[in-house]
Amino acid sequence: DRETTGREQPLWWEERRGELLDIAAESGPCYVYDRETLKKYAGLIRGIGPVDYALYAMKANANPEVLRTFREQGLGFECVSIGEVRRVLDLFPDIDRKEILFTPNFAPRSEYEEALDLGINVTLDNIYPLQQWPELFRGEELFLRIDPGHGHGHHKHVKTGGMHSKFGIPRFEIEEVAGLAGELDLSIKGLHAHIGSGIKDPLSWKQTAIILHKVARQLGGVEILDLGGGFGIRENDTEAHLDIRELTQSLAQFREAHPEYTLWVEPGRFLVAVAGVLLTTVTQLKGKGKVKYVGVDTGMNSFIRPALYGARHTIVDLSRLDEPNSQSVNIVGPICESGDKLGIDRLFPQAAEGDVVLIANTGAYGQVMSSHYNLRPPAQEIVI
Ligand code: LLP
Repeated sequence: DRETTGREQPLWWEERRGELLDIAAESGPCYVYDRETLKKYAGLIRGIGPVDYALYAMKANANPEVLRTFREQGLGFECVSIGEVRRVLDLFPDIDRKEILFTPNFAPRSEYEEALDLGINVTLDNIYPLQQWPELFRGEELFLRIDPGHGHGHHKHVKTGGMHSKFGIPRFEIEEVAGLAGELDLSIKGLHAHIGSGIKDPLSWKQTAIILHKVARQLGGVEILDLGGGFGIRENDTEAHLDIRELTQSLAQFREAHPEYTLWVEPGRFLVAVAGVLLTTVTQLKGKGKVKYVGVDTGMNSFIRPALYGARHTIVDLSRLDEPNSQSVNIVGPICESGDKLGIDRLFPQAAEGDVVLIANTGAYGQVMSSHYNLRPPAQEIVI
């Protein structure tokens, strides 16, 4: 898109507008994902020279076609639940099990048992499993999720580092973990950190690497540093993506100083966000005092990010892309809450019942966070 090419070329959904209007007419509310754009973003991640291996954080979008596309692009998978692990294994039974990294949080004992039996990489983000279920882990190779002591991200809900976050092993526990590792004959193969989501500071991953290196020195024998996901993208036209070039340069400096490590990253949002749009249709219009409402046939049941994080995604009337924006409106869904707003104070053309409304950059944390609230089925998914 414009951000990654630096050229004034149309966005993928502007180019495929006719096709999208047909899909919306046939399918009702739906997410549409563009495979070529998925590939382009996979290419950008693979192009980060100092990174040896990228895993796709499939919590962002677990659609099977999306997973197949990334598999073809040579990505592994970061899974937060045994359900995600099972989906990967169902789709790719022959995958090398070490291309899957299981990074659960407060998961039940049974999920660790299953993951170890499957032979996938397992990450512990708490000392409790080692203390309480030592027999599970004796002699195993493990990853540890470290809390580097600070968080970052687009909203307080998605900052996952620092003393007020539930994630990760704090650095003051490393000595104790090292002791347990010795008793249980563990090999700590990798260190992992993920400090938050929607990070635009390109130096963040190098800072994480430096802290993980310090922890690795304390533990000894660490081969892999997994620097997490969190690669920020723009949600609307007024923002920019994370600067991948600067990120690459800073990681190259780390790599030069520490060639002893294999470096992994695990982005979710960056790989899928731009490739997805949500299509919904205008149902009714309303003017109440000074406020104008454009009502559409799906809302927070399909896309909760505006309600949950105040996210401000680009929204257009796809049926009237060429008409001037002549009014300011709130775009709202049919759900029984005042928070059911997809966009507030948006410049819009004179919309009419039946128009197709497109919400852009919704490929990440869209459908996966949808619900059947009000018994309104959420938007379906289509890959083109
Ligand atoms: N690795 C771990 C361990 C994670 O917990 C996450 C995201 C990722 C990788 C991928 O992060 P990403 O590259 O997508 O930022 N629902 C929120 C985002 C929650 C992210 C949770 N963890 C949103 O819509 O903004």
